[in-house]
Amino acid sequence: MPRFDAVLFDLDGVLADTAHIHFAAWRRLGEELGIHLEPAFEEKLKGVDRMGSLELILAHGGPEGSVTRTAEEKRVLADRKNSYYTAAIAEQTPDDLLPGARRVLEEVRAAGLKIALASASRNAPPLLQQLGIASLIDAIADPAAVKAPKPAPDLFLEAARLVGAVPERCLGIEDSVAGIISIKDAGMVAVGIGDPTVLTSADYVVPTTEQFHIGDFL
Ligand code: G6P
Ligand code: MG
Repeated sequence: MPRFDAVLFDLDGVLADTAHIHFAAWRRLGEELGIHLEPAFEEKLKGVDRMGSLELILAHGGPEGSVTRTAEEKRVLADRKNSYYTAAIAEQTPDDLLPGARRVLEEVRAAGLKIALASASRNAPPLLQQLGIASLIDAIADPAAVKAPKPAPDLFLEAARLVGAVPERCLGIEDSVAGIISIKDAGMVAVGIGDPTVLTSADYVVPTTEQFHIGDFL
């Protein structure tokens, strides 16, 4: 009997090669605000939702950055970053999937497991369509419908609920530190995609999506 009933996927940096596109959009906004984001800052923003990312960036610019701005001013800044991001991904096609992404989804389906998406991104549904993988995914957890964003477990728990799986029988796959914490706090098994010295709380780490094989986990 397989160990899992469902695999819950993050999107940016796991299926889609979009993690660096999010960061490029934040960097552009940062430059406009006089806040320089060094390359190492990318790791801190992975998996963090839009407003949470903006708060981290404003705090990086100095202690006044957040408190001196109204909620409306912050919303305008977050919208501006989103306009840079959506313009950059407008031309994404199936060729922009991370290597192995489609094969991984197909193997998980062929193994009889459910697939749900647990992405913090509000842009996930149109991106899945553009990448041509929407039909391979059984359910998409809506980040706007859960109480707390990653690193809270809510989004992964919602993804599991949508496909009728109990947390102990879910495998979560993530490229972010925040996401791995969510998966572990949800009581699931966590696979990190990336660097084991960064994704230290993951149960397993695989360097790239291309090297992930569901058969290794069943
Ligand atoms: C993903 C990315 C984050 C991004 C978040 C929200 O988790 O890793 O970098 O901030 O989604 O994305 P959104 O498209 O809603 O701004
Ligand atoms: Mg990610």
